[in-house]
Amino acid sequence: MDFKSIKYYLIASVLVVSCATPKKGSFSAKTKTLDQKVDSLLSIMTLDEKIGQLNQYNGFWEITGPAPKDGQAAKKYNDLKNGLVGSMLNVKGVKDVYAIQKIAVEQTRLGIPLLFGFDVIHGHKTISPIPLAEAASWDLDAIKKSAQVGAEEAAAEGINWTFAPMVDISRDARWGRVMEGAGEDTYLGSKIAAARVNGFQGDLSTNKNILACAKHFAGYAFAEAGRDYNTVMVSDEVLHNVILPPFKASVDAGVKTFMNSFNELNGVPATGSKLLQRDILKKNWNFDGFVVSDWGSIIEMIPHGYAKNSKHAAEIAIQAGSDMDMESYAYVEHLSALVKEGKVSENLINDAARRILKVKFELGLFDNPYKYCDEAHEKATVGKQEFHDAVLDVAKKSIVLLKNENNLLPLAQSGKKVALIGALATDKTSPLGSWRIAAQDNTAVSVLEGMQQYKNNQLTYVKGADLTKGRTQFVWETHINTTDTSGFAEAIDVAKKADVVVMVLGEHGLQTGEGRSRTDLGLPGVQQELLEAIYKVNKNIVLVLNNGRPLAIPWAAENIPAIVEAWHLGTESGNAIAQVLYGDYNPSGKLPMTFPRNVAQVPIYYNYKNTGRPTMNEPESVFWSHYSDEKNTPLFAFGHGLSYSKFEYSDLKLSTTTLAQGGNINVTVSLKNNSAVAGKEVVQLYIRDIIGSTTRPVKELKGFEMVALQPNETKTITFTITEEMLAFYTANNKWETEAGDFKVFVGGSSDKTIEANFEFIKTN
Ligand code: NOJ
Repeated sequence: MDFKSIKYYLIASVLVVSCATPKKGSFSAKTKTLDQKVDSLLSIMTLDEKIGQLNQYNGFWEITGPAPKDGQAAKKYNDLKNGLVGSMLNVKGVKDVYAIQKIAVEQTRLGIPLLFGFDVIHGHKTISPIPLAEAASWDLDAIKKSAQVGAEEAAAEGINWTFAPMVDISRDARWGRVMEGAGEDTYLGSKIAAARVNGFQGDLSTNKNILACAKHFAGYAFAEAGRDYNTVMVSDEVLHNVILPPFKASVDAGVKTFMNSFNELNGVPATGSKLLQRDILKKNWNFDGFVVSDWGSIIEMIPHGYAKNSKHAAEIAIQAGSDMDMESYAYVEHLSALVKEGKVSENLINDAARRILKVKFELGLFDNPYKYCDEAHEKATVGKQEFHDAVLDVAKKSIVLLKNENNLLPLAQSGKKVALIGALATDKTSPLGSWRIAAQDNTAVSVLEGMQQYKNNQLTYVKGADLTKGRTQFVWETHINTTDTSGFAEAIDVAKKADVVVMVLGEHGLQTGEGRSRTDLGLPGVQQELLEAIYKVNKNIVLVLNNGRPLAIPWAAENIPAIVEAWHLGTESGNAIAQVLYGDYNPSGKLPMTFPRNVAQVPIYYNYKNTGRPTMNEPESVFWSHYSDEKNTPLFAFGHGLSYSKFEYSDLKLSTTTLAQGGNINVTVSLKNNSAVAGKEVVQLYIRDIIGSTTRPVKELKGFEMVALQPNETKTITFTITEEMLAFYTANNKWETEAGDFKVFVGGSSDKTIEANFEFIKTN
């Protein structure tokens, strides 16, 4: 048969299967039909074609230009034409995607369409706040909407698969990728994981949604000393109670793909971990999508000291359950020989190919491989106003008011002399954050532009000092200005004459993200010096922070009256910040990650263990768990965030103090807005399990609710405690509950709560 007739046979067999009447009472007629389609396709594929489905290449030549003749690009091009590629990454734009898809569909023997993966992490061209910022909104609808927007815009550019969400729980602000996750809490992180998966994937039958990918499986954020890619050693207890739940939540939300990770976990590289990929993910959780390796992570098992060479690495990875090889070339080069030598069973190849093909069917690519390739739609969609509105909305919700002494904020909208200082105040690239590979430089609204909308004040901008030495790409510490203070004098002069000074300081967007770990969590470069110099002449300072990780800024927390955490907020950054500064938006964000006083406190997180020596027994005692030169407490706690309203909590009541199995406890609390400003408050519910078969954290988030209150309004908020909320991975190595005493806490921050007690009684 020539390739055309095989394609015809394939299409016919697929049709026959889909027209077959589903058997009554079968578990899922739809799934069975889909499985049959996949099986019928698999049955006509050669071993090499199946292995081809497991191979993913990075975009490799000027796609609409002449075909590459030599080198790596020519190899990739030939592999593509020979049906040895299942997916591409980093190809975008309908023209390019169409050109490549056409080769796969028209020039390969079976015409199997490709998946096009891309890092649509926080928006595509219209950029949303970094995920850590979005997590600060605690607003699951806004977070889902932001993922939807990213998906729709990327889909319009031909992309059908995002490598997001990153659901790694992170406790170490030195690690540059904390910007890409939802912070330190497992419960919040799990809710956000599900919201983002739903936002990206939505209804996959449309051309507005794309495949999501839960990554990095697993433990990546627990890199020793916060150094990216470093060794990870965590106990089973931490793995199951802290790290894995957001991944499980992603599976429950229907995520179609997983990405494994670069790190080793307790001595085994995650890419070669059967425990993670085969036992936990595919067996225990019944995940029926596929796992892609991280970039080159299969061959990275060689320097890890776990594989002898690329062939050995391919053998380990496929056996461990890594289904697709991203840019290691290991599968395409060695799997066929490994099968022929009897080292790898063909069943493993079939299983991996089956998973990948199934996802392609689910995406509708066999019905229409060019589903995402419509140039008119691309033109009408990319950058549309609706996207700007959505990213502005989530940007405002992501801002956290850390401090506001003497109600310095919001600023009066007229009659004031306002000085705006800091290189970041005019930066239109840095607010785009770290993962903005599809966005154009200089497309964010700067703080200056945002503030210029408020025309009835006299606004004067002066830089004060450069943050970087002219660098906008791959910024790292050697590109930071640490010496040039020549602009200070002018800034001091302007500040002296101002009623209020707004200083925009922090990290460049590209100082965070992959490979950008830091040992210093202070303000980079000469910014701290600039802040202190301005403070000497004008104490009315509003510090607006732009950053991708918690910072250690004890001097500012002590001295500066108002501090606004504005992260890297994306395309609409300056508008969001200005609306908050001028009171047109009342902030409601709460920190999803603890801010330390000092980098040496890291890892620092609210749900720590109590230890055997939690407090000082007598005055001046030495032998308790503490530092002799720093407090144990954070600078700003998880869950902290102020508002222009003043919220007061009282009357915490439990409907019963005994929880029986199958029963529940209603927890009610009274929340009053004791101010003349309408606002929203994220009411947080925490629980402590006093005694456990393994020690339990001092507090764990178990629920939250966003409550809107009019001036002076009071509402009663109710949470329901059920047995399920008390379960954890116990000393029996399983998820279960244990009877005993518990505490419940409610408040507007993990460190400001009111509390009550209850007992959980187990009858079986
Ligand atoms: C490496 C990163 O770790 C991963 O998160 C990303 O999706 C891939 N590169 C592809 O760009």
